[in-house]
Amino acid sequence: MINAVERKINQYVSELDDAYVSSLYRKLPSGKRLRTKLILKIAGSDLKVVKTAATVEMIHAASLLHDDVIDDANTRRGIISLNASSGNKTAIMMGDILYSKAFLELCNISPEVAKVVSNAVVQLSLGELADVELSKKFHTNRDAYLKMLYQKTASLMEASAEAAAILAGKPRNAYRKYGHNLGMAFQMIDDILDITADSKTLGKPALHDFEEGKVTLPYMYLYEALEDEDRAYLLTLYKKRLNADEALWIKSAMKKYAIIEKSYFEAKDLIVEVIKLMESLGEDDLSNIAKEMIEREF
Ligand code: IPE
Ligand code: IPE
Ligand code: MG
Ligand code: MG
Ligand code: MG
Repeated sequence: MINAVERKINQYVSELDDAYVSSLYRKLPSGKRLRTKLILKIAGSDLKVVKTAATVEMIHAASLLHDDVIDDANTRRGIISLNASSGNKTAIMMGDILYSKAFLELCNISPEVAKVVSNAVVQLSLGELADVELSKKFHTNRDAYLKMLYQKTASLMEASAEAAAILAGKPRNAYRKYGHNLGMAFQMIDDILDITADSKTLGKPALHDFEEGKVTLPYMYLYEALEDEDRAYLLTLYKKRLNADEALWIKSAMKKYAIIEKSYFEAKDLIVEVIKLMESLGEDDLSNIAKEMIEREF
């Protein structure tokens, strides 16, 4: 079924009828296709479902092309990012082309699906902008952070699940909730992995968020846990390229105050809620996708 989605994306890209764009697109790795998996599990593999998954993956790929420009990241999906290999201008325009083609194709699926998915892209863009704003100076504004996290990441997963429910004639609010919690937990875990995992495992830069000015939940919690002197030291590391000693200091402090556990449990609570919800609907596969998200090593 995933192959049908891959073929549909390839078809959409070839319809652009531009050899250069096709060659650039062929060089982009596919990623985990998590949003496609959700959509197919919820709605099966009718043509409209396959088309919806294809547009969502193109939108997601576009958002990553722009995100790597914004975050100044040189690795994506295990290889050099397009902004690093071909420059920001090319990455931005490839993103715009994928976004626009996806919107064009959404119009041919159903007005309701088009509305849900495009609204998520409005949210995603607002979220990326809020992320930029929140990265300008150190802060501990948890509410603003969580709102931004919903917008930049959870909104597209929420929309994927809701659009699939619409196509399958399933109760859209329950699936929307599932996508929402999964997306929130997913980004919280992404923020944890930035601290705990290495770049090779991630396929993208590690320990990069704080350097880029992003005060993710673990950094907020760490700041709150530290004594005054250590707080001041942490602030000297903000937006700085960390050397090995400084990186180690952050990791040890996170360990000392059990910050990763605290952040992980917050993601886990969201997941446990939707595991129960999906079990009550007899959706074992969806419940398992949620379980897998929190059953990895940190
Ligand atoms: C990466 O998403 C961007 C975030 C929302 C953290 P994925 O981890 O789903 O990216 P790919 O598609 O597998 O590369
Ligand atoms: C999520 O934020 C990106 C999008 C939703 C586009 P990040 O900036 O944390 O994503 P990664 O870590 O680069 O994949
Ligand atoms: Mg990024
Ligand atoms: Mg980003
Ligand atoms: Mg990240």
